[in-house]
Amino acid sequence: MAWKVGGALASLLVLLWVSNSAAVGPASEHAPARQDATQRGIWRRDYRAPAAIPFPESNPYTEAKAELGRRLFFDPILSGDRDRSCASCHVPNLGWADGRARAADLNAGDMDLRTPSLLNLAWQERLGWDGKFRTLESVSFFPINGPANMNLPTAEALRRLSEDEGYARAFAEAFPDPAVTKERVEAALATFERLIVSRPAPFDRWIAGDEGAIEAAAKRGFDLFNGKARCAACHSGWSFSDGSFHDIGTATGTDIGRGRFFPGSPALRYAFKTPGLREVSRRAPYMHNGAVPTLEAVIDLYDRGGIERPSRSPDIRPLGLAPSEKADLVAFLRTLSSEPGRVPALADLTPDTPRP
Ligand code: HEC
Ligand code: HEC
Repeated sequence: MAWKVGGALASLLVLLWVSNSAAVGPASEHAPARQDATQRGIWRRDYRAPAAIPFPESNPYTEAKAELGRRLFFDPILSGDRDRSCASCHVPNLGWADGRARAADLNAGDMDLRTPSLLNLAWQERLGWDGKFRTLESVSFFPINGPANMNLPTAEALRRLSEDEGYARAFAEAFPDPAVTKERVEAALATFERLIVSRPAPFDRWIAGDEGAIEAAAKRGFDLFNGKARCAACHSGWSFSDGSFHDIGTATGTDIGRGRFFPGSPALRYAFKTPGLREVSRRAPYMHNGAVPTLEAVIDLYDRGGIERPSRSPDIRPLGLAPSEKADLVAFLRTLSSEPGRVPALADLTPDTPRP
């Protein structure tokens, strides 16, 4: 099996695959069985978990900073009426999202966007559905200050934290100079958020070599995902996101996503960030506006190929999937969720739990 062999032979197989793929293209349906097995092995290797979480030089990991960030993340002290924390919307056992089509505003209405999962953001550069945030650090005060969100002005947030003895101590432990500043709140929250990494799922046991970890349908779904259905063109790598922005041909309406920042570039109209697919079966409904209720409905959308328009990605077009192939794709997506019970229950949401 290709993914089990080490060193020189593995690189050789990669070279072989590169020359093969140039000739025949990925996952030709009519490829001989033996070649399919090799392709599957090579693909599997692309999804291996990285060895370490990357932290930027400007905000290196320290345990004290991560602990402070964890505490801030779960603490309603950062909302005007002390009734909301980051974890009110980014709920650990809902895949670090909230299970709603669109986030709840303060007046029991809906915001325009769905709450995205916070899983595996350490590997993403641009954040927000439209990429409006350049760093993880720069996100935090957007929800804190948002009048319909946590509704707390920065000065009041910093005053509350410096007057709290516990926080004053925690800032002094985390930073050489104990003053509570906006930058330090951002640094601590981002350090904690980079630790939010998905747990191993049946899919990971399978790519590590346990053939019994997932069913045959899911394995066929994996082949489709990487081959005929072209999903991996955008949902690539271990977290199943290229971190980039695409129009998948479904959005209509006034929110044109990343196109807002590039009015001169028609290709970015309706482009939204590719979401990672870890724990995806736990986070219905789907898309930036929560418009798609189930994974089955997501697959139907891709099968239809979406609206033909200049912005639609060239990787999106009608797929002609048989009903059994659609079911295989869904079976595969379900293998990306960790076992139930491995994520903390809602009742556990205190500043002392959970440790991702
Ligand atoms: C009312 C629900 C709500 C609360 C509370 C909330 N968020 Fe969010 N979060 C959202 C929504 C909605 C978005 C999408 C915003 C966008 O794309 O412009 C988001 C986006 C994010 C992102 C970007 C994720 C990505 O995939 O690009 C991060 C990081 C984040 N929030 C962190 C936080 C932190 C830290 C807090 C607390 C300080 C917080 N959020 C509080 C709803 C919420
Ligand atoms: C051209 C790039 C591209 C291709 C190809 C692609 N996707 Fe996506 N996918 C995206 C983007 C971008 C979104 C978010 C769109 C939005 O929010 O409106 C998305 C959203 C999703 C979602 C919803 C996730 C969530 O948290 O809301 C799922 C599930 C999904 N894709 C699965 C697939 C599958 C399965 C395939 C193959 C049949 C596929 N994708 C092909 C880019 C792509």
